[in-house]
This record gives sequence, C-alpha cells and structure tokens, in this order.
Amino acid sequence: MTRNILTETPVLPWKPKIVLFGATLLMNLTRRPNGTLNRRLLNLVNHTVPARNKARQGVKTLDITIDATRNLGFRLFIPTKPPPDVILPVIIFFHGGGFAFFSPNSRHYDNVCRRFAREIPAVIVSVNYRLLPEHGYPSQYDDGFDTLKFLDQQRLDGFPANADLSRCFLVGDSAGGNLAHHVACRAGKAELRQVRVIGQISIQSFFGGEERTESEIRLKKMPIVSLGLTDWLWKAFLPEGGNRDHEAVNVMGPRAVDINGMEYPETVVVVGGFDPLQDRQREFYNWLKRSGKEVKLIEYPNAVHGFYLFPEIPESSHFMKEARDFVHKVSATFKK
Ligand SMILES: *[C@@H]1O[C@H](CO)[C@@H](O)[C@H](O)[C@H]1NC(C)=O
Ligand SMILES: *[C@@H]1O[C@H](CO)[C@@H](O)[C@H](O)[C@H]1NC(C)=O
Ligand SMILES: *[C@@H]1O[C@H](CO)[C@@H](O)[C@H](O)[C@H]1NC(C)=O
Repeated sequence: MTRNILTETPVLPWKPKIVLFGATLLMNLTRRPNGTLNRRLLNLVNHTVPARNKARQGVKTLDITIDATRNLGFRLFIPTKPPPDVILPVIIFFHGGGFAFFSPNSRHYDNVCRRFAREIPAVIVSVNYRLLPEHGYPSQYDDGFDTLKFLDQQRLDGFPANADLSRCFLVGDSAGGNLAHHVACRAGKAELRQVRVIGQISIQSFFGGEERTESEIRLKKMPIVSLGLTDWLWKAFLPEGGNRDHEAVNVMGPRAVDINGMEYPETVVVVGGFDPLQDRQREFYNWLKRSGKEVKLIEYPNAVHGFYLFPEIPESSHFMKEARDFVHKVSATFKK
C-alpha cells in the first residue's frame, strides 16, 4: 500500500478495495435503526468454507462443538508439515466484525487462520462466539473464556498431541482484539491447570468512548469503520442504560479496571495509519505500559482497518513475520 500524499487516502490494490467497499456497504445495508440486523440479506452474501480434514497447503481443519445450546465451538487449524515431534504453540483466535458479523468459517478468516497455522507454525483455535444483536455483552467474553476452560479440561479426540497448551497466545482483530483483552483479564484471575496464556496480539482492536477522538473524526470516510456503524454496534453491545465509557468499551477510560497487580500476557499492539480507531489503540498501548505490562507497538502508516486479511497488501506479509517472531520469542522465554 502506498500513500497518496495529495489526498491523504490509501492506495489499495483493486481486490481488497472492492472487498472492503462491499463489506462496508453490506454493514450499512443490513443494520436497521431499530437495532436488529437483516440476517436474511447477510446470509445471501455470507461466503463460508467448510472444514477440510484433508490437508490443503499444509493445513487441515476440523469443527469442534463445545456447547450446542448456544452454538459455541471452534474451528481447529492443524499444520501438517511440521514433524509430529515438534511441539507447537496454540493460538486462540477471535475474528473481527464488530461482534456482529462473520464467523470462523468466513472465507477471509478461514484463510488468515490457515496462514497463521502454516507460517508460525501453530495450532489455531478460532472461536465461534455468539453475535450481536441477539447476544450482547458479556456473552462474547463468556464464550471466549469458556473456550479456554474447555481446552484446559479436555483432552480432545483430534486435538494434536504436539499442541502445547502451556504456550497459548490470544490473537484477535477489531472486535476480536477487544475480546482477546477481556479473556486475558479473566485468564489472569483464574486457576487454569494446563492452559497458560503467555502472549497476546492485539490487531487494530475495537475500543470506543463517549468523546470522539481526532482520528475517528478525520478518517470517517475510511472503509468499514464509520461512526454510524460503531455507534450502532456499541448500542447493541451494551446493557440497557450503559454508555460508551463502559469498562468493556473504553477499556482504558474513566472507568478502567486497575490491572496493575494482575497477571497479563506480553502483548503486541498493531495500529494502521488509516484506521479511525488508531487513537484508541495507542491509548490502549499507553495504558498497558502505565499498568506495568510488557507491550510493543507496531505501526503501519499506510494500513486501513482489516489490511492484514489481504495477502495482496504488502503490510500483511510484514505483519505475519512480526507475529511469527513474537510467538517464537515469547515461546522461547517460556520453554519448559
Ligand atoms: C425492526 O425492523 C424490521 C424491519 O423494518 C422488522 O421486521 C422487525 O420486526 C423490527 N424489530 C423490532 C424488534 O422492532
Ligand atoms: C454464515 O453461514 C454459515 C453456514 O451457513 C454459518 O455457520 C455462519 O454462522 C454464518 N455467519 C454469519 C455471520 O451469519
Ligand atoms: C456507510 O455509512 C456511512 C455512515 O454511516 C457512510 O459515511 C459511508 O459512506 C457508507 N458507505 C457505504 C459504502 O455505503
């Protein structure tokens, strides 16, 4: 992605440009003023791929159910190239989509998890958490944490024997990044036997607040993230009477939880220069630092919201390399 200095707009390859425009349009057309979503329309354009037990490009996938009553489960991505005696870290992945859109079987999320599995390499658990507006706060956090508890308690059929649960990473983009943070907080207070969360990658995470930030206003014409959409999503997410300074939304704001003394994983915060949410992500980074946590900020000045989902965008490969280096570095520190 290069930057057009004259117009201050990102220059994107045509494919991501079309996909991002389509997604923005769809999120506009399907959200109703009364707080419901037109799921019928969404399902018409819901590009999903089934799980494939036969390895394709070195990764096989499997759908696992945790609790059928709330449709909770995950898609498991297993790299088949590393020899079975190589112990692999586990990434618990939360997809983005404002807590309302997409699922682990969405084409772009299936693709990106395959890349993580192959390129790191790692075993990926991509969580199928409940969505808005039918399920609001804190269902998504409950589902995320229940997935950790499930992994902690079970030795699953089909769960690779070389997956090392004592080296778990939480990775999420956009709303998935918000979710990862809250799951990290719960894990920090919980007694887990096998699962140990040692790292987090917070990719363009979705945070909010009552007061508008400079980047939210200046970049309001960028793809995906408009104030119209984010206000709608937070309204659907929050409990009756809650506002955007709620601790779940404005994590580092006036009602922030004190995490100073709490166990919290080493973190990378990823920011894009054309993402309206960037000011809040930097605040999140600064808040983690002030709270005494190990945290690194990675900035891609030319990146739009969701850039890493598109291999055509050069920053996507740079990010993948950073993710791999981070997982290897933190894993080495925690080697048993
Ligand atoms: C919201 O609006 C849609 C379409 O206008 C309608 O079908 C639906 O019943 C409404 N739902 C509620 C809860 O008001
Ligand atoms: C898309 O469709 C698939 C299968 O038909 C379903 O599992 C998934 O939940 C749907 N995703 C969304 C966001 O509606
Ligand atoms: C989506 O809606 C926002 C306002 O809510 C508007 O600024 C933007 O242009 C719309 N984009 C598309 C592609 O419909």
